[in-house]
Amino acid sequence: MGQVIVELKNITKFFGASKALDEINLQIEKEKFITFLGPSGCGKTTLLRIIAGFYEPDAGEITINNRRVENVPPYDRNTAMVFQEYALFPHMTVYQNVAYGLEVKNKNKTEIDAKVEEVLKLMQLSGMEKRYPNEMSGGQQQRVAVARALVMDPHALLLDEPLSNLDAQLRESVRVELRLIQKKLGLTAIYVTHDQQEALSMSDMIVVMNKGVIHQFGTPKEIYFCPRTRFVADFIGSTNLVDARVVKEDIPVVSYHGIHLQVKGNYEALVDQDVVVSIRPECIKINKVSKESNFNLPIKILHSMFLGEKVRYHVEDSYGKEWRVDSFDSGEEILEGSAYLNIQSEKSHLIQEQ
Ligand SMILES: Nc1ncnc2c1ncn2[C@@H]1O[C@H](COP(=O)(O)OP(=O)(O)O)[C@@H](O)[C@H]1O
Ligand SMILES: [Mg+2]
Repeated sequence: MGQVIVELKNITKFFGASKALDEINLQIEKEKFITFLGPSGCGKTTLLRIIAGFYEPDAGEITINNRRVENVPPYDRNTAMVFQEYALFPHMTVYQNVAYGLEVKNKNKTEIDAKVEEVLKLMQLSGMEKRYPNEMSGGQQQRVAVARALVMDPHALLLDEPLSNLDAQLRESVRVELRLIQKKLGLTAIYVTHDQQEALSMSDMIVVMNKGVIHQFGTPKEIYFCPRTRFVADFIGSTNLVDARVVKEDIPVVSYHGIHLQVKGNYEALVDQDVVVSIRPECIKINKVSKESNFNLPIKILHSMFLGEKVRYHVEDSYGKEWRVDSFDSGEEILEGSAYLNIQSEKSHLIQEQ
């Protein structure tokens, strides 16, 4: 692990009697893009605000750049926040909005001018210095909000659902742009979103949260292919959660009603135990004929949906379990009737929750 810039130890936060965060432990590496991902109300904003210093935790320790900051006010933590609703000063021009933080810090005019100019250029806002926020589009205002944060050279740039007010197309281009700037400047960014696509596409590391606890901390690929809990498997993309049992043959294998499935990983310790296997719809193949292969499960195709790049099948096995299967459309005929499921073992994953 590289240098840790933000460290949280046992952070707990109550609002009245309800616990918004429950013993959060996290180490955030310098120059990485970290995303807090989870459904609405899971505690993402609360955690971000605790890092920024807008909320005080009821218990736990926060260290930023090797300094304990629980008792340090927000303006002295060297973090900078970008809010969903931009929160620009309406009576100030773009220049004044961006320069404000540096002026409060009593920087000299020459330094402020140079810094503001540099950041506005980076955010492609050169020439708009004299405009007021209400003379700009939502996307431009969002850039000003980011510029205002960047100008402070923060130890960590904190972004709370900053793109949710933008339309879908603009959102995607701003995602790419933000990520490029973060990499170019070597920034540490902590980003909050409930949008799994956004999290997967932008992050070095994702913190998946639910109900105030961290379910998993991992790279986008780890989170997607090796979900640690049912919640993560279900929340990220769509998946088939299969109740099965580990049985000992020559080697331990997963058995679903006696049909054997090879799953990645070592599960010697789980022999004779019930387990859950997460199998992504795109890792399953439907074959019209029975094949000698990993997992050969007879099914009936219930219906299919043509979605452009893929066909999503809903199928049912003879035990009454419904499966979702994605087949990338090759322009061939859509399948119907009886068939068999085969599974790519390297993409099925045993969840070790129980
Ligand atoms: N200022 C507050 N006062 C009381 N309850 C709050 C406050 N802020 C957040 N909460 C509650 O704490 C929980 C987590 O909220 P929040 O961190 O805003 O979630 P998220 O950002 O993931 O949607 C929710 O149940 C929310 O209602
Ligand atoms: Mg929030």
